[in-house]
Amino acid sequence: MTQKTKHTSDFRPLDVQAIRGDFPIFADTPPLAFLDSAASTQTPRPVVEAMDAYYDTYRSNIHRGVYRISEEATDQYEKARQKVAQLINAPRTSQVVFTRNTTESINLVAYSWGSLNIQQGDEIVLTDLEHHSNLVPWQLLAQRTGATLRFLEITDEGLLDFTQLRDVLSPKTKLVAITHVSNVLGTITPIQSIIDAAHTAGAKVIVDAAQSVPHFHVDVQQLDCDFLAFSGHKMCGPTGVGVLYGKSELLDDMPPFLGGGSMIRSVERDISTYADVPAKFEAGTPSIAEAIGLGAAVDYLTQAGLASIHVHEQELLKYAHERLQEIEGITIYGPAPHQKAGVISFDMEGIHPHDIAGILDTHNVAIRAGHHCAQPLMKKLDVIATARASFYLYNTLEDVDRLYEGLQKAQTLMTRRNK
Ligand code: ALA
Repeated sequence: MTQKTKHTSDFRPLDVQAIRGDFPIFADTPPLAFLDSAASTQTPRPVVEAMDAYYDTYRSNIHRGVYRISEEATDQYEKARQKVAQLINAPRTSQVVFTRNTTESINLVAYSWGSLNIQQGDEIVLTDLEHHSNLVPWQLLAQRTGATLRFLEITDEGLLDFTQLRDVLSPKTKLVAITHVSNVLGTITPIQSIIDAAHTAGAKVIVDAAQSVPHFHVDVQQLDCDFLAFSGHKMCGPTGVGVLYGKSELLDDMPPFLGGGSMIRSVERDISTYADVPAKFEAGTPSIAEAIGLGAAVDYLTQAGLASIHVHEQELLKYAHERLQEIEGITIYGPAPHQKAGVISFDMEGIHPHDIAGILDTHNVAIRAGHHCAQPLMKKLDVIATARASFYLYNTLEDVDRLYEGLQKAQTLMTRRNK
């Protein structure tokens, strides 16, 4: 597949009620108000059905069988790769490597590309917004090699302080590892400008797209990023499958990450040669059903329309900001709705975020509370934890109302308890 066209707009209003009908988890009355999709989304029937079809009718291993169902499994697995490549507009399908999740994709680059390209004295630029999965692998690489980590900080509004970029980038910078959307604040980073500036400085860029690919169009050719990582379970797909996209010339040069079956060309007692990408990075039996499920999830999201999903989430986010600001003692972290994706982090005076989440749970409203795997960012915000609501295509304005009502009840309860 070689295509250089950008995504055309696929905006049409979402039929949210029809979408909700595809998710059995919302069948109860009153339905679950699920506001934790930034952690992991719900699964629509077509994704489960695609995986069931594999298990029920053609379950077998791939890339090695010479019988019908194994060929069918191989075909479906590779079709899923094509769907993912089309979703992100990868020039070639072989540039899509299936991993377990975003974390594994980033670790793959840190070990494989890092071992070849990072030396003592080199610098890796990160930001204050990074999730642990886009921080700890670089700490480990820096410890192994003697490289230094440098950080782009955030402003009081939770935006990246772009003015620091000139000081942070230098001829020593070999890599910029940056999130596209903060999982805590929802901040959408100025990714295009950062990629362009990094390239001008001679550095490569890896984008943590775990919170962006599921929610709006991401085009790797337009961005010109060197690597991009995301997870299936945050985009209506199953757990256990993720994606690493990379530029061919980089992936081709990189040594294997994991060794074993499927990733070799020939093996002798003392030495092996390796298969071409993507097989070189897919050692052992992969997550076959999960990759097929991810392919079905890509179909599902494409049918709904990524542009439509983004507009819908913006509406929910704006409404959530308005409603939550009505509550006394609430602090919302992060920028204004138009500068972020569908995430709202907050806390309430006198109530620990875990208590907020616990009380909301008794009203069948699910949010996440904690450090959101971003402890340095919590430190920067000067909090131990926040409460976080996050939205997806199946959420409604009523879900936001239920969040608001639950928060009011939490406040009344805690005020009474503290008297
Ligand atoms: N990265 C996931 C979250 O933000 C787990 O909740």
